[in-house]
Amino acid sequence: MRIVSGIQPTGNLHLGNYLGAIRNWVAMQDALAEGDECLFFLADLHAISMPHDPATLRSGTLEMAAALVACGIDPDRSILFNQAQVPQHAELQWLLNGTARMGWLNRMTQWKDKAGKNREGQSVALFTYPVLQAADVLIYQATHVPVGEDQKQHLELARDIAQKFNNDFASEAAPVFTLPEPIIPAEAARIMSLRDGSAKMSKSDPSDMSRINLVDDADTMAQKIKKAKTDPEPLPENAAGLETRPEARNLVGIYAALSGQSVDAVLGQFAGQGFGAFKPALAELLVETLGPIRERFVALKQDREALDAILARGAAKARERGTPTLDAAYAALGLVRGH
Ligand code: TYM
Repeated sequence: MRIVSGIQPTGNLHLGNYLGAIRNWVAMQDALAEGDECLFFLADLHAISMPHDPATLRSGTLEMAAALVACGIDPDRSILFNQAQVPQHAELQWLLNGTARMGWLNRMTQWKDKAGKNREGQSVALFTYPVLQAADVLIYQATHVPVGEDQKQHLELARDIAQKFNNDFASEAAPVFTLPEPIIPAEAARIMSLRDGSAKMSKSDPSDMSRINLVDDADTMAQKIKKAKTDPEPLPENAAGLETRPEARNLVGIYAALSGQSVDAVLGQFAGQGFGAFKPALAELLVETLGPIRERFVALKQDREALDAILARGAAKARERGTPTLDAAYAALGLVRGH
Protein backbone atom coordinates (compact mmCIF):
# COMPACT_ATOMS: atom_id res chain seq x y z
CA MET A 1 0.00 0.00 0.00
CA ARG A 2 1.12 3.51 -0.78
CA ILE A 3 -1.11 5.91 1.16
CA VAL A 4 -1.07 9.54 0.05
CA SER A 5 -3.19 12.54 1.04
CA GLY A 6 -3.01 16.30 1.48
CA ILE A 7 -4.60 19.27 3.19
CA GLN A 8 -4.50 22.95 2.30
CA PRO A 9 -2.60 24.97 4.88
CA THR A 10 -5.09 27.84 4.76
CA GLY A 11 -6.97 28.63 7.97
CA ASN A 12 -7.27 26.33 10.94
CA LEU A 13 -7.70 22.61 10.97
CA HIS A 14 -11.37 22.06 11.85
CA LEU A 15 -13.51 19.20 13.05
CA GLY A 16 -14.54 18.31 9.47
CA ASN A 17 -10.89 17.87 8.43
CA TYR A 18 -10.18 15.87 11.56
CA LEU A 19 -13.11 13.45 11.40
CA GLY A 20 -13.34 13.30 7.60
CA ALA A 21 -9.66 12.78 6.89
CA ILE A 22 -6.88 13.27 9.42
CA ARG A 23 -8.15 10.69 11.90
CA ASN A 24 -8.05 8.16 9.08
CA TRP A 25 -4.54 9.21 8.10
CA VAL A 26 -3.39 8.45 11.63
CA ALA A 27 -5.24 5.12 11.75
CA MET A 28 -3.73 4.05 8.42
CA GLN A 29 -0.25 5.12 9.53
CA ASP A 30 -0.64 3.18 12.77
CA ALA A 31 -1.79 0.03 10.96
CA LEU A 32 0.99 0.14 8.37
CA ALA A 33 2.52 -3.19 7.33
CA GLU A 34 6.18 -3.75 6.51
CA GLY A 35 7.02 -2.28 3.11
CA ASP A 36 3.98 0.02 3.00
CA GLU A 37 4.37 3.76 3.18
CA CYS A 38 2.37 6.91 3.99
CA LEU A 39 3.00 10.33 2.47
CA PHE A 40 1.06 13.29 3.88
CA PHE A 41 1.53 16.80 2.63
CA LEU A 42 0.48 20.41 2.98
CA ALA A 43 -0.98 21.55 -0.32
CA ASP A 44 0.63 24.98 -0.30
CA LEU A 45 0.78 25.10 -4.12
CA HIS A 46 -2.99 24.62 -4.21
CA ALA A 47 -3.41 27.53 -1.83
CA ILE A 48 -2.28 30.06 -4.45
CA SER A 49 -5.33 29.28 -6.58
CA MET A 50 -7.30 31.76 -4.44
CA PRO A 51 -6.29 35.28 -3.36
CA HIS A 52 -3.85 34.87 -0.48
CA ASP A 53 -1.39 36.66 1.72
CA PRO A 54 2.18 35.27 1.35
CA ALA A 55 3.16 35.75 5.02
CA THR A 56 -0.04 34.03 6.19
CA LEU A 57 0.56 31.12 3.81
CA ARG A 58 4.08 30.67 5.14
CA SER A 59 3.01 30.63 8.80
CA GLY A 60 -0.12 28.62 8.00
CA THR A 61 2.05 25.90 6.44
CA LEU A 62 4.12 25.51 9.59
CA GLU A 63 1.04 25.63 11.80
CA MET A 64 -0.72 22.97 9.77
CA ALA A 65 2.39 20.78 10.06
CA ALA A 66 2.20 21.24 13.85
CA ALA A 67 -1.53 20.42 13.79
CA LEU A 68 -0.95 17.17 11.91
CA VAL A 69 1.79 16.07 14.29
CA ALA A 70 -0.49 16.97 17.21
CA CYS A 71 -3.22 14.78 15.69
CA GLY A 72 -0.85 11.82 15.65
CA ILE A 73 1.06 11.95 12.35
CA ASP A 74 4.51 10.72 13.29
CA PRO A 75 7.19 12.21 11.00
CA ASP A 76 9.43 9.24 11.74
CA ARG A 77 6.89 6.81 10.33
CA SER A 78 5.11 8.93 7.72
CA ILE A 79 6.67 11.21 5.14
CA LEU A 80 5.36 14.67 6.05
CA PHE A 81 6.18 17.57 3.73
CA ASN A 82 4.86 20.57 1.84
CA GLN A 83 4.31 20.48 -1.93
CA ALA A 84 6.38 23.58 -2.70
CA GLN A 85 9.57 21.78 -1.64
CA VAL A 86 8.91 18.92 -4.05
CA PRO A 87 9.00 20.42 -7.57
CA GLN A 88 8.02 17.07 -9.10
CA HIS A 89 4.34 17.79 -8.27
CA ALA A 90 4.22 20.92 -10.43
CA GLU A 91 6.30 19.27 -13.13
CA LEU A 92 3.98 16.28 -13.40
CA GLN A 93 0.98 18.58 -13.42
CA TRP A 94 2.25 20.15 -16.61
CA LEU A 95 2.63 16.75 -18.25
CA LEU A 96 -0.88 15.77 -17.16
CA ASN A 97 -2.30 19.01 -18.56
CA GLY A 98 -1.77 17.35 -21.92
CA THR A 99 -4.11 14.51 -20.93
CA ALA A 100 -6.79 16.23 -18.81
CA ARG A 101 -9.74 17.58 -20.78
CA MET A 102 -11.42 20.98 -20.44
CA GLY A 103 -14.79 19.25 -20.23
CA TRP A 104 -13.67 17.12 -17.29
CA LEU A 105 -12.49 20.16 -15.36
CA ASN A 106 -15.63 22.11 -16.24
CA ARG A 107 -17.70 19.45 -14.48
CA MET A 108 -15.87 19.70 -11.14
CA THR A 109 -18.33 20.84 -8.48
CA GLN A 110 -15.61 22.56 -6.44
CA TRP A 111 -14.71 24.68 -9.47
CA LYS A 112 -18.39 25.55 -10.03
CA ASP A 113 -18.93 26.37 -6.34
CA LYS A 114 -15.79 28.45 -5.90
CA ALA A 115 -16.03 30.28 -9.22
CA GLY A 116 -19.76 30.97 -8.90
CA LYS A 117 -20.99 33.38 -11.56
CA ASN A 118 -17.54 34.91 -12.04
CA ARG A 119 -15.67 32.21 -13.98
CA GLU A 120 -13.86 34.72 -16.18
CA GLY A 121 -12.34 36.41 -13.16
CA GLN A 122 -10.89 33.27 -11.56
CA SER A 123 -7.25 32.25 -11.68
CA VAL A 124 -6.27 29.56 -14.18
CA ALA A 125 -4.89 27.71 -11.15
CA LEU A 126 -8.37 27.37 -9.64
CA PHE A 127 -9.53 25.70 -12.86
CA THR A 128 -6.54 23.37 -13.21
CA TYR A 129 -6.41 22.67 -9.46
CA PRO A 130 -7.67 19.07 -9.84
CA VAL A 131 -4.85 18.29 -12.30
CA LEU A 132 -2.29 19.25 -9.65
CA GLN A 133 -4.24 17.10 -7.20
CA ALA A 134 -4.01 14.19 -9.64
CA ALA A 135 -0.24 14.77 -9.93
CA ASP A 136 0.01 14.76 -6.10
CA VAL A 137 -1.14 11.17 -5.88
CA LEU A 138 -0.03 9.73 -9.23
CA ILE A 139 3.57 10.84 -8.74
CA TYR A 140 3.87 8.40 -5.81
CA GLN A 141 1.89 5.52 -7.35
CA ALA A 142 -0.66 6.01 -4.53
CA THR A 143 -2.92 3.02 -3.98
CA HIS A 144 -5.12 4.53 -1.22
CA VAL A 145 -6.11 8.15 -0.66
CA PRO A 146 -7.96 8.88 2.62
CA VAL A 147 -10.21 11.94 2.11
CA GLY A 148 -13.60 13.37 3.05
CA GLU A 149 -16.55 12.98 0.70
CA ASP A 150 -15.99 16.40 -0.92
CA GLN A 151 -12.73 15.19 -2.52
CA LYS A 152 -14.23 12.09 -4.12
CA GLN A 153 -14.86 13.74 -7.46
CA HIS A 154 -11.26 15.01 -7.64
CA LEU A 155 -10.01 11.49 -7.00
CA GLU A 156 -12.23 10.09 -9.74
CA LEU A 157 -10.72 12.65 -12.07
CA ALA A 158 -7.22 11.52 -11.02
CA ARG A 159 -8.20 7.98 -11.99
CA ASP A 160 -9.56 9.17 -15.35
CA ILE A 161 -6.36 11.07 -16.08
CA ALA A 162 -4.20 8.08 -15.09
CA GLN A 163 -6.24 5.74 -17.22
CA LYS A 164 -6.20 7.95 -20.31
CA PHE A 165 -2.46 8.59 -19.95
CA ASN A 166 -1.77 4.85 -19.60
CA ASN A 167 -4.00 4.10 -22.61
CA ASP A 168 -2.48 6.79 -24.80
CA PHE A 169 1.20 6.46 -23.88
CA ALA A 170 1.95 3.15 -22.18
CA SER A 171 1.49 -0.52 -22.86
CA GLU A 172 -1.00 -2.55 -20.84
CA ALA A 173 1.87 -4.62 -19.46
CA ALA A 174 3.76 -1.57 -18.17
CA PRO A 175 1.37 1.26 -17.19
CA VAL A 176 3.01 4.49 -16.00
CA PHE A 177 0.43 5.26 -13.30
CA THR A 178 -1.44 3.30 -10.62
CA LEU A 179 -5.18 4.04 -10.29
CA PRO A 180 -5.72 5.33 -6.72
CA GLU A 181 -8.66 4.28 -4.48
CA PRO A 182 -10.33 6.95 -2.35
CA ILE A 183 -10.84 5.90 1.31
CA ILE A 184 -13.86 7.72 2.72
CA PRO A 185 -15.05 7.16 6.30
CA ALA A 186 -18.49 5.59 6.79
CA GLU A 187 -19.44 8.06 9.53
CA ALA A 188 -18.31 11.69 9.28
CA ALA A 189 -17.55 11.69 5.56
CA ARG A 190 -19.21 15.09 5.39
CA ILE A 191 -19.42 17.18 8.57
CA MET A 192 -21.81 20.08 8.09
CA SER A 193 -21.72 23.70 9.30
CA LEU A 194 -23.05 24.26 12.82
CA ARG A 195 -25.13 27.17 11.47
CA ASP A 196 -26.57 25.54 8.35
CA GLY A 197 -27.10 21.81 7.97
CA SER A 198 -27.02 22.08 4.17
CA ALA A 199 -23.50 23.57 3.91
CA LYS A 200 -20.31 21.66 4.71
CA MET A 201 -18.11 22.74 7.59
CA SER A 202 -15.38 24.74 5.92
CA LYS A 203 -12.34 26.90 6.56
CA SER A 204 -13.69 29.51 4.20
CA ASP A 205 -17.07 30.01 5.93
CA PRO A 206 -17.03 33.67 7.09
CA SER A 207 -18.72 32.71 10.39
CA ASP A 208 -16.36 31.15 12.91
CA MET A 209 -19.44 29.89 14.78
CA SER A 210 -20.04 27.51 11.87
CA ARG A 211 -17.04 25.31 12.73
CA ILE A 212 -15.11 23.80 15.62
CA ASN A 213 -11.42 24.60 15.22
CA LEU A 214 -8.64 22.53 16.67
CA VAL A 215 -7.35 25.74 18.29
CA ASP A 216 -10.64 26.55 20.09
CA ASP A 217 -10.45 26.31 23.86
CA ALA A 218 -12.93 24.25 25.86
CA ASP A 219 -15.28 27.18 26.56
CA THR A 220 -15.36 28.24 22.91
CA MET A 221 -16.17 24.70 21.79
CA ALA A 222 -18.96 24.43 24.36
CA GLN A 223 -20.35 27.83 23.29
CA LYS A 224 -20.34 26.86 19.63
CA ILE A 225 -22.21 23.62 20.34
CA LYS A 226 -24.67 25.44 22.58
CA LYS A 227 -25.40 27.98 19.83
CA ALA A 228 -25.46 25.38 17.04
CA LYS A 229 -28.66 25.49 15.00
CA THR A 230 -31.12 22.70 15.89
CA ASP A 231 -34.87 22.13 15.93
CA PRO A 232 -37.33 21.90 18.83
CA GLU A 233 -38.09 18.16 18.45
CA PRO A 234 -36.70 15.50 20.78
CA LEU A 235 -34.21 13.03 19.31
CA PRO A 236 -35.79 10.11 17.42
CA GLU A 237 -35.24 6.40 18.00
CA ASN A 238 -33.27 5.65 14.86
CA ALA A 239 -31.34 7.20 11.98
CA ALA A 240 -34.39 7.24 9.68
CA GLY A 241 -35.99 9.81 12.03
CA LEU A 242 -33.17 12.26 11.27
CA GLU A 243 -33.58 12.23 7.50
CA THR A 244 -35.43 15.53 7.28
CA ARG A 245 -33.53 17.13 10.16
CA PRO A 246 -30.08 18.03 8.73
CA GLU A 247 -28.80 19.98 11.75
CA ALA A 248 -29.85 17.28 14.22
CA ARG A 249 -28.39 14.61 11.95
CA ASN A 250 -25.09 16.46 11.81
CA LEU A 251 -24.74 16.77 15.59
CA VAL A 252 -25.68 13.15 16.19
CA GLY A 253 -23.26 12.13 13.41
CA ILE A 254 -20.44 14.09 15.09
CA TYR A 255 -21.23 12.38 18.40
CA ALA A 256 -21.22 8.98 16.70
CA ALA A 257 -17.90 9.62 14.96
CA LEU A 258 -16.22 10.93 18.11
CA SER A 259 -17.42 8.06 20.27
CA GLY A 260 -16.83 5.37 17.65
CA GLN A 261 -20.49 4.29 17.72
CA SER A 262 -23.14 4.02 15.04
CA VAL A 263 -25.82 6.74 14.78
CA ASP A 264 -28.44 4.19 15.91
CA ALA A 265 -26.41 3.34 19.02
CA VAL A 266 -26.15 7.04 19.94
CA LEU A 267 -29.89 7.46 19.43
CA GLY A 268 -30.47 4.39 21.59
CA GLN A 269 -28.90 6.40 24.39
CA PHE A 270 -30.53 9.79 23.71
CA ALA A 271 -33.93 8.99 22.09
CA GLY A 272 -36.73 11.12 23.52
CA GLN A 273 -34.35 13.69 24.96
CA GLY A 274 -34.05 17.26 23.65
CA PHE A 275 -30.94 19.20 22.68
CA GLY A 276 -30.78 20.68 26.20
CA ALA A 277 -29.51 17.29 27.32
CA PHE A 278 -27.69 16.21 24.15
CA LYS A 279 -25.60 19.32 23.51
CA PRO A 280 -23.69 19.34 26.83
CA ALA A 281 -22.87 15.64 26.36
CA LEU A 282 -21.58 16.38 22.85
CA ALA A 283 -19.53 19.35 24.05
CA GLU A 284 -17.94 17.22 26.73
CA LEU A 285 -17.02 14.52 24.26
CA LEU A 286 -15.53 17.10 21.89
CA VAL A 287 -13.39 18.69 24.57
CA GLU A 288 -12.24 15.27 25.73
CA THR A 289 -11.13 14.33 22.19
CA LEU A 290 -9.74 17.59 20.87
CA GLY A 291 -8.42 19.05 24.17
CA PRO A 292 -5.25 16.93 24.31
CA ILE A 293 -4.62 17.49 20.58
CA ARG A 294 -4.93 21.22 21.09
CA GLU A 295 -2.43 21.18 23.94
CA ARG A 296 0.13 19.33 21.84
CA PHE A 297 -0.51 21.71 18.95
CA VAL A 298 0.06 24.83 21.08
CA ALA A 299 3.39 23.45 22.32
CA LEU A 300 4.57 22.25 18.88
CA LYS A 301 3.75 25.35 16.88
CA GLN A 302 6.18 27.48 18.92
CA ASP A 303 9.16 25.54 17.60
CA ARG A 304 9.39 26.74 14.02
CA GLU A 305 12.89 25.39 13.56
CA ALA A 306 11.83 21.87 14.47
CA LEU A 307 8.85 22.11 12.10
CA ASP A 308 11.03 23.41 9.26
CA ALA A 309 13.40 20.50 9.86
CA ILE A 310 10.54 17.95 9.76
CA LEU A 311 9.27 19.36 6.45
CA ALA A 312 12.76 19.51 4.91
CA ARG A 313 13.41 15.89 5.87
CA GLY A 314 10.04 14.78 4.51
CA ALA A 315 10.53 16.72 1.26
CA ALA A 316 13.90 15.08 0.62
CA LYS A 317 12.30 11.64 0.91
CA ALA A 318 9.32 12.67 -1.22
CA ARG A 319 11.58 13.99 -4.00
CA GLU A 320 13.33 10.64 -4.06
CA ARG A 321 10.04 8.71 -4.18
CA GLY A 322 8.62 10.90 -6.95
CA THR A 323 11.53 10.86 -9.38
CA PRO A 324 11.15 7.43 -11.03
CA THR A 325 7.49 7.99 -11.97
CA LEU A 326 8.18 11.47 -13.27
CA ASP A 327 11.05 10.18 -15.41
CA ALA A 328 8.78 7.43 -16.74
CA ALA A 329 6.07 9.96 -17.62
CA TYR A 330 8.56 12.15 -19.53
CA ALA A 331 9.89 9.13 -21.38
CA ALA A 332 6.39 7.88 -22.26
CA LEU A 333 5.66 11.28 -23.83
CA GLY A 334 8.85 11.23 -25.90
CA LEU A 335 10.65 13.73 -23.68
CA VAL A 336 14.00 13.42 -21.94
CA ARG A 337 13.95 14.89 -18.46
CA GLY A 338 16.96 16.98 -17.38
CA HIS A 339 18.48 16.18 -13.98
P1 TYM B 1 -8.99 20.44 2.29
O1 TYM B 1 -7.77 21.15 2.77
O2 TYM B 1 -10.19 21.26 1.97
O3 TYM B 1 -9.44 19.36 3.35
C1 TYM B 1 -8.54 18.38 3.89
C2 TYM B 1 -9.30 17.09 4.11
O4 TYM B 1 -10.42 17.30 4.98
C3 TYM B 1 -11.61 16.80 4.37
N1 TYM B 1 -12.73 17.68 4.75
C4 TYM B 1 -13.88 17.24 5.29
N2 TYM B 1 -14.31 16.01 5.62
C5 TYM B 1 -15.55 15.89 6.16
N3 TYM B 1 -16.36 16.96 6.40
C6 TYM B 1 -15.98 18.22 6.10
N4 TYM B 1 -16.77 19.27 6.34
C7 TYM B 1 -14.68 18.40 5.51
N5 TYM B 1 -13.98 19.49 5.07
C8 TYM B 1 -12.80 19.02 4.63
C9 TYM B 1 -11.35 16.88 2.88
O5 TYM B 1 -12.17 15.97 2.18
C10 TYM B 1 -9.88 16.51 2.80
O6 TYM B 1 -9.71 15.10 2.79
N6 TYM B 1 -7.81 19.56 -2.49
C11 TYM B 1 -7.67 19.05 -1.12
C12 TYM B 1 -6.23 18.88 -0.69
C13 TYM B 1 -5.43 18.02 -1.59
C14 TYM B 1 -5.47 16.60 -1.68
C15 TYM B 1 -4.54 16.27 -2.68
C16 TYM B 1 -6.20 15.62 -1.00
C17 TYM B 1 -4.52 18.46 -2.50
N7 TYM B 1 -3.99 17.43 -3.15
C18 TYM B 1 -4.32 14.94 -3.03
C19 TYM B 1 -5.96 14.29 -1.36
C20 TYM B 1 -5.03 13.96 -2.37
C21 TYM B 1 -8.31 20.04 -0.17
O7 TYM B 1 -8.42 21.21 -0.46
O8 TYM B 1 -8.64 19.51 1.05
